[in-house]
Amino acid sequence: MAFPNGFLWGGAVAANQWEGGWNLGGRGPAMTDVTTGGTVNEHRKVTYIDKDGNHCTMLQHEKLPEGAHYAVLDEYHYPNHEAVDGYHHYKEDIALFAEMGFKQFRMSISWSRLYPTGLEKEPNREGVEFYRSVFEECRKYDIEPLVTIWHFDTPLYLEEHCGGWLNRETIDLYVRFATTCFTEYKGLVHHWLTFNEINNTIMFLDFAGGEHADQEYQDAYQHLHYQFVASAKAVMIGHAIDPDNMIGCMICGITNYPATCDPKDILACQHQWEKNIYYCGDVQVLGAYGSYATRLWKEHNVSLDITDEDLELLSAGTVDMYTFSYYMSSLVTTHKVTDQVAGNFSKGQKNEYLEYSDWGWAVDPDGLQYYLEMMYQRYNVPMMVVENGLGAYDKVEEDGSIHDPYRIDYFRKHIKAMEKAIENGVDVIGYTTWGCIDVVSAGTGEMRKRYGFIYVDMDDEGKGTMKRSRKDSFYWYKKVIASNGADLD
Ligand code: BG6
Repeated sequence: MAFPNGFLWGGAVAANQWEGGWNLGGRGPAMTDVTTGGTVNEHRKVTYIDKDGNHCTMLQHEKLPEGAHYAVLDEYHYPNHEAVDGYHHYKEDIALFAEMGFKQFRMSISWSRLYPTGLEKEPNREGVEFYRSVFEECRKYDIEPLVTIWHFDTPLYLEEHCGGWLNRETIDLYVRFATTCFTEYKGLVHHWLTFNEINNTIMFLDFAGGEHADQEYQDAYQHLHYQFVASAKAVMIGHAIDPDNMIGCMICGITNYPATCDPKDILACQHQWEKNIYYCGDVQVLGAYGSYATRLWKEHNVSLDITDEDLELLSAGTVDMYTFSYYMSSLVTTHKVTDQVAGNFSKGQKNEYLEYSDWGWAVDPDGLQYYLEMMYQRYNVPMMVVENGLGAYDKVEEDGSIHDPYRIDYFRKHIKAMEKAIENGVDVIGYTTWGCIDVVSAGTGEMRKRYGFIYVDMDDEGKGTMKRSRKDSFYWYKKVIASNGADLD
């Protein structure tokens, strides 16, 4: 059997998409709390009040105008405020995960629930106790928590008043937060990820489209550098607090293929891997910038604030495992793109050999095997697939059942691909499907884009009872786990 004993089967969510309780228990706001819902065709918007008191919106990557402040406005619905109310339903949800046989549950800690503005010297005790109770609940069922320390949710106060990740001081504020996590949950949590999909910052520029001024690249690379240093410091502290801690990076894993055999496409594809994928993995796993980094910076006249001490930290604070999300592959070409597709922070020519989800994401299980084999060859550290899944419309039948064979089919193919990689020598130690329970979509803010084995009665307008029910895929995944991946029928 390919899957090793003790393989960590499970599922994943993030605080801002699952928890809700945005203003409960002393929590401060994060960017998602001033972000509206959207659709596949209509971007989510960030709301604010301008210097003259007008209610305004802007796109997520735009900068707040001079004199404006972020604001929650009555005329909009903010899906992350309540999300699927994991804040009040976590016991029920974890019991359902246990019923499926989860060995591992990936979730994140909302920074602003522990440090409401990010600047406090001491954590908010109510927030600390909330997560303790969640982890204790997991332990009750022998479920190992896999905890993401930062999943896209810097406290809004730091973003608005302190320059967010463009300010070097944010490193120490993050480290204080991470240290609190390692100290408070010592013994309850052993597996940690420092930053979710850290490479998105750079991928987002291509994804957003249009021409970008050099300053945008300067900011993106600087932001990343400070996060690398913060991650390295956190890894060292995490190991010092508990040598049993296993700490990973988390990369948005897109498998890039050249669209044609034109050597120019092959080279462009290699450069895409370097910019979007290796750039972060090399720093976090190998402890140094790759040789191509100088070229990337030169292309946009980037000049970074990097000190010698930073470089020493990067080399000392390398991660123990390589974890990544995998949803899709992408085609790279230097030729005219005739049929463009976009999804999960990447854009490219449509691949005629693949099928696409209703949200335009390529379904490519072979790409998962390819990615696992490539990355293991490069890094030779244990790997986990910590997000994988299909966002789809689900229909609740009159009798309350939910038939989702498309989801089962997607998982079956991806688990088989992972199995082949393991047979080929890759050390994969865990797999957590994305949105094991329906959550708010990060990209579109929709509820109708569902990933879960567990259905949540909540719609895009915030109407619903929050009742949980089991989809067909729930029973299927339970069988997969019980057979340690042998029974995929
Ligand atoms: C990843 C994120 O990018 O993809 C998750 O880490 C996100 O937070 C997931 O939810 C799926 O994307 P979406 O936009 O369908 O929610």
